[in-house]
Amino acid sequence: MICYFSATGNCKHVAERIAEATGDRAVSIEGLEPEIQLSEGEVLGLVTPVYFWELPIPMSEFLERANFKMRPSYTYLVVTYGTRTGCSSGHAGKLLKQKGIGLDAAFSIRMPDTWTPDFDLTDKEATAE
Ligand SMILES: Cc1cc2nc3c(=O)[nH]c(=O)nc-3n(C[C@H](O)[C@H](O)[C@H](O)COP(=O)(O)O)c2cc1C
Repeated sequence: MICYFSATGNCKHVAERIAEATGDRAVSIEGLEPEIQLSEGEVLGLVTPVYFWELPIPMSEFLERANFKMRPSYTYLVVTYGTRTGCSSGHAGKLLKQKGIGLDAAFSIRMPDTWTPDFDLTDKEATAE
């Protein structure tokens, strides 16, 4: 199961591409019940943007309230970001640890930065970089 949060589509795109490639399902955390039913041996993927060098509040709150019925066999994090990932994977690792789940791997993918006070998303040259 791949749980993702995506405000503007980058993480939704990444989660769906990973799901396609691995035969998994990508599920938005918005409206997801806190009781998460994993099957035995299931892999858990988390896909989220970086906000202010950490996890966005919707993802950190999701990890705090989630009750994973079965411990995942392997857990990975993919963050999308614009400039710096900061301590986003450490943040996720800490929250997962509180659930007794280890973070096995963390990946980052640079995408167009949606922090609009700094980045002009109407500039196609810059966002296509
Ligand atoms: C409020 C806000 C804060 C952000 N903070 C960071 C940051 O600290 N570091 C970074 O590299 N990108 C930051 N970004 C850029 C996003 O992480 C990046 O564009 C991400 O791919 C957006 O994913 P989404 O389209 O799935 O929402 C921020 C974006 C927003 C809207």
